[in-house]
Amino acid sequence: MNSPLTRLARLPLAFTAVLCASLLASVARSDELPRVAIFATGGTIAGVQATPGAAAYKPGVLTLDHLLSKLPGLEKVARLDGEQIANIASQDITAELWLHLARRAAERLADPDVAGVVITHGTDTMEETAWFLRLVLRSEKPVVLTGAMLPATDPAADGPVNLRSAVATAASPAARGYGPLLLLNGELHSARDVRKTATEAIDTFQSPNDGPVGSATPAGPVFTVSANSLRPAPGDGFDLAALDAAKLPRVAIVSAHGDVDGTVVDALLALPAERRPAGIVLSGVGNGNASAPLLAALERASREGIIVVRSARAGRGLVNRNMEVDDDKLGWIAARALSPQKARILLVLGLTRTRDLAELQRLFDEA
Ligand code: SIN
Repeated sequence: MNSPLTRLARLPLAFTAVLCASLLASVARSDELPRVAIFATGGTIAGVQATPGAAAYKPGVLTLDHLLSKLPGLEKVARLDGEQIANIASQDITAELWLHLARRAAERLADPDVAGVVITHGTDTMEETAWFLRLVLRSEKPVVLTGAMLPATDPAADGPVNLRSAVATAASPAARGYGPLLLLNGELHSARDVRKTATEAIDTFQSPNDGPVGSATPAGPVFTVSANSLRPAPGDGFDLAALDAAKLPRVAIVSAHGDVDGTVVDALLALPAERRPAGIVLSGVGNGNASAPLLAALERASREGIIVVRSARAGRGLVNRNMEVDDDKLGWIAARALSPQKARILLVLGLTRTRDLAELQRLFDEA
C-alpha cells in the first residue's frame, strides 16, 4: 500500500514536521474562509436539454450537488453547505415555498458562522421571491439570488459563472445591508426595482427606475450604490414567525388593455366567500389607469370591501395618487414604485397587518 500517509511516514522527520505544519496551516486557512449556505430551488440553472445546445429544455432537473460538482475551486472561495429546497420551474413557486425558503434562510443567517446565503432560482419569478424575502428577512448579511438564462447543458450556459459570482458576493462583507440581491449577467440588482424584461436575453434583469447597485464577478462584488441609500423594508418588514401560508389573504392581479370590460372583476366578485380575493391589484395602462367599464367594476369591488391597488404595466416610473383616477374619492391605493407582481406581494403581507387605507398606502409610499 502506498497511501499519502504511508508516503509521509517514509519522509525524514524534519521535513515531515514542516509538511505537517504547512498542511495544518492550509486546513486553518480553509476554516477561516467565510461560510456560505446555498439553497437550490430549480429553474433553468438546473435545466437540461435533450441534446446540448437544443432550444427545448426542461428547467429544474439537476441537483445542487451536480451544479457544485461542475465548479471546482469554489471551496477556495467559501466553505459551502447546501440544501435542495425544491427542484421546480419558478412559475410553480408558491407562498408556502416562499415561507419555507425564508425560514430556512433566516435560520442559517442567524448562525454566527454563516457569512451569507445564495439561492438558485428560476428567473421567471426570481424578482418576486427576492421582494418577498426583502419584506420578511431582517438580517444584514448578504442574500444573493441567481439563476441562468441558458440551461446547464448548453455550451454557453451562464449558470456556472453566475453561481461562482453569487458565492463570492454572499461571502463578501461589502454585500451586507443591501437586502436580497439579484445577480445575473455580472450585475447586482436590489429587490425592489428589479424586473425580468426579456424572454431570452442574458441581460434580462433590469432595474428601470434605479439601475443596478453594482457588478459581480467570481472575484467578488463591486458596488456603485451604497447600501445606506437604499430604502429599508416598508413598514419595518413583516414578522416571518407570524405568517401562515394557508391563512394569507388572497390577492388577484387584473390587467387593463384595449377593449377591456369588467368581466374578470365581476367573476372574482361572484366567487364563494372563501375563494374571493381580499384585494385586487390593477395592472393598469399608463399611470395605472383602465377603461371606464373596468374602473366601474373595480368600484363595485371596493364597495364590497375588496382593497384596490392601482399599479402600471408600463415597466418604468411611478404610479402616484389622484392623477387621472381619483384615489381619494374611490378609496384606492397607488402602488408607487412597485410592479403589479410586487404590489401584489406587499398587499398580501400588508393585509395581514391592517385594512386601514392610509396605513396600506403608507406601506406603498415607503416601498
Ligand atoms: C424558471 O423560471 O424556472 C424557468 C426560466 C428560467 O429559469 O430562466
